[in-house]
Amino acid sequence: MKSLRIRSASATDLHAVCLIEDNSFSDPYPLHLLKRLLGDTKHIFLVAEDRNNSLIGYCVSAIEGRLAHLISIAVLTEGRRKGVATALLKNLIEYLQARSVEELWLEVKQDNKEAIKLYEKFSFASMMVLENYYSDGSAALRMRMSVAKQAAKVGHEEG
Ligand code: COA
Repeated sequence: MKSLRIRSASATDLHAVCLIEDNSFSDPYPLHLLKRLLGDTKHIFLVAEDRNNSLIGYCVSAIEGRLAHLISIAVLTEGRRKGVATALLKNLIEYLQARSVEELWLEVKQDNKEAIKLYEKFSFASMMVLENYYSDGSAALRMRMSVAKQAAKVGHEEG
């Protein structure tokens, strides 16, 4: 997408982030939880803005030493398939590399084919299936990616 801007989130973005959550998940994160994540320096919270300065996507990741966890990534329905999630993940990888994070882990619903394709594009590899992981009883796939390897790959593609 042309004129896409990725930047760190601020408190004034949180209502728009909630709308993206509501639009994307059957069990969206509530505002109070997003507020807590934003206020904690262990989290990297990024938003994607379109040319009208409207928020169309976001992601948040938690850092625990050399390991980071992708807590959420979502794009408004009308902004999908235009490279927004790709841009968010590329930026997140840069932030993680700057913080000396070695691996990024995530969980994704096993039937979320769009997201799994996105993650495979970023060289995430499946680790294990976690049965009964979500509140609706569905299973998750745990995946992981090497931050340094992926950062080198992204840098190479862009250079
Ligand atoms: N069908 C198949 N592959 C898809 C896809 C779809 N509908 N959407 C994304 N992908 C894969 C493709 O490989 C795509 O690359 P390509 O367009 O060159 O083929 C790649 O992901 C990158 O797509 P991108 O445009 O950057 O993704 P996006 O901005 O549309 O966002 C999601 C992808 C998953 C974040 C978005 O669909 C979404 O918000 N889904 C609901 C929330 C969610 O499931 N989040 C993940 C929770 S674990």
